[in-house]
Parts: sequence; structure tokens; C-alpha cells
Amino acid sequence: MKGLLLSGGRGTRLRPITHTSAKQLVPVANKPVLFYGIEALRDAGITDIGIIVGDTQEEIRRACGDGARFGVKLTYIHQAEPLGLAHAVLTAREYLADSDFVMYLGDNLIISGIKELVHKYQTEKSNAMVLLARVPNPNQFGVAELKDGKVFRLVEKPKEPKSDLALVGVYMFDKLVMKAASSIQPSARGELEITDAIQWLVDQGHRVNPHIVTGWWKDTGKLEDMLEANRMILATMERRIAGSVDAASCLEDKVVIEEGAQIVNSTIRGPAIIGRNTRIENSYVGPFTSIYYNCLVRSSEIEHSILLEESKVLDIRRRIEDSLIGKNVTISRSPARPKALRFMLGDNSSVGVS
Ligand code: DAU
Repeated sequence: MKGLLLSGGRGTRLRPITHTSAKQLVPVANKPVLFYGIEALRDAGITDIGIIVGDTQEEIRRACGDGARFGVKLTYIHQAEPLGLAHAVLTAREYLADSDFVMYLGDNLIISGIKELVHKYQTEKSNAMVLLARVPNPNQFGVAELKDGKVFRLVEKPKEPKSDLALVGVYMFDKLVMKAASSIQPSARGELEITDAIQWLVDQGHRVNPHIVTGWWKDTGKLEDMLEANRMILATMERRIAGSVDAASCLEDKVVIEEGAQIVNSTIRGPAIIGRNTRIENSYVGPFTSIYYNCLVRSSEIEHSILLEESKVLDIRRRIEDSLIGKNVTISRSPARPKALRFMLGDNSSVGVS
């Protein structure tokens, strides 16, 4: 079985964090979301993986390389325009040949992996398998309706959803999906929808089996979603200390200190992760916090937050909570008079001051 990992789409405009980079490279617990997809495929025994790339291909190639570091072989497939998930399948026709494959959307994360699901698909021998999850906001997803345990209708982002079962971004297909994808027309949003291709399979009497999962996350571009994904992943991590920790510091519970990180006179209360070459000095880092690489946190307190690479939090006397701080950001005290809050914030930023 092959893997098809979708990492195309446009590289802009989702929210401040993805103004400048691919959404699939947003880190969750200090690891790009896309890497979880590669690892999930690998752990399910799928090592021949095609990656669909678009505008942001350079960045994706730089991050993933040839796949050797993950123990897989990556083949890059360029999709000139993001014309839909079924279009991505057609773009990969040559690569996939007649192979069965797992299609994995690069901005999705399934905490428990997909090993058992791949095994289930292989033993059930259906033409397709869709993963579903119950969600409070089905109108933002593809939605499935089931009858007698079988998929009978799929609608992409319906205004009035008939069920709360969202299509999770992982699908398993045999070669029939190529025929399905070539038989459908673009949707109202101008995309060849994979939901329509699967509906075609159902309508033609082919077997589409559902599987309901828990522990799923999808990048919807909201702060709360990022913090939730971060919490879910941190909770699964094991303690690992590779950096240096001085005698005055205290590490509580599940803490990961990555290579080259320095913890000086500080308390880190897990689950939390401190990235490569980051320095935490005279500070407190609380549970469910991820601090990425090359950061500096000095004389400050931060909890339930994400700090991206190269950022600094310096001498902030109030505790920072529930925050997502982008790349190369500095938050510091300023001695300048008059005493005032001074900001330089990018578009779509949001700041809460009390
Ligand atoms: O995440 C689950 C949802 O993914 C499903 O519930 C929907 O049924 C499905 O259509 C899809 O919805 P989105 O509209 O959220 O998909 P998005 O445009 O975010 O694309 C998903 C991934 O696929 C993302 O990593 C970008 C990539 N992509 C997308 C398109 C449209 C491509 O590589 N090529 C494309 O043409």
C-alpha cells in the first residue's frame, strides 16, 4: 500500500502564524503537523509516500527531505493549483499506478495513529474506507450519513448538516477512486471534492466502509485548536532530558528538554517541552506549554501556551497564559517613559491586556 500525503494548497492567509509559512509546518508540541502524518503512515507500515505540494513546495521539501530521517521514501508530486482533494488524487495518478493507498491530509492529526485502521481496511477489502469523528461544528467539514452501519451520503460543508459525523482527513482507497475522481464535476467552490468522488463510489454500488475515531485534530486556524492539539500531544509524551539543567532548577512530571536547551534557576512543570538551544532562565514554565527552538525566556512565567522559534519573553512580571506567540517575537519590559504598552503587531494579531 502507498501513502498520499496532501501538503499543497495555498501558503498564505490562514492566520498570523501561517502568513509566512505552510500550514502543514505549524508545530504542535515542537513538531510540524506534517511530520505526525509521515510518522503515522510509517508506523502503519507504509514507507512509499507521495507528497502533493503546491506554492509552498520549497519549504516542504526543505523540512522533509527525501524521507530518510523518518525511515520512508518520499516522492514529491507538484499540483500546479489547489483544485481539490480529488484533483490531487488525479495528479498523483502516475505515482499511485494501480496501488491501494492511504490519503492523509497534511493539516490533520490523529493521536492514536492509523495502524489498526490500515489493517482493518486491508482485511475488510472494501473499495474505500472513511474515518469519521463526532464534532460540534459539522458544517465546517465534509459530513457523512450512515444507514445500517454503511455510508450512504456525504456532503461537503453542508449548511444544515444531517449528522455530526465529520470526515476526518484520512481515507483509504483502491484504484476505483481514480475512475470516481474523473467522473465528477467541480463543486460550487470550484474544487473537485473527494466527498463527491466517494459519493460516486456509493452511488455505483461500491463498498465504502466507515470507521469512527476519537482523538482527532484539524487545523482550523483558531488559537483554541492549536492549544488543544498541543495539550493532546504533550499528554502522550514521555519524559526526556537531553539538554542541561542546573542544580537550582526543578523539573516536575513529564518534561522534555531537547538537545542544547539550557534550564537555569527555573521550574518546568510538565507536560511541557523546551526546544533545541532554548534558554529558560529564572523563570516558570507551566503545564501544557511548548517552547520551540532558539528561544529565550528570562525572569518570566508562562503556562498553557505555545512559543514559536527564535522568540523572547523577557522580564514580564505577569504570568502569560493561553497564548500563541509567533516566530521571532519579543515581549519585554521597557524602561522608556512615559510608562505605556508599546506594540508592533502583524495583521490579524490579537492581544489581551488586563
Ligand atoms: O480536514 C478534514 C476535511 O478536509 C474534511 O472534513 C473535508 O471533507 C475535506 O474536503 C477537507 O476539507 P478542507 O476544506 O478543510 O480541506 P483543505 O482545503 O484544508 O485541504 C486539506 C489538505 O489538503 C491541506 O493540507 C491542503 C491540502 N490540499 C488541499 C487542496 C484543496 C492539497 O494538497 N491540494 C488541494 O487541491
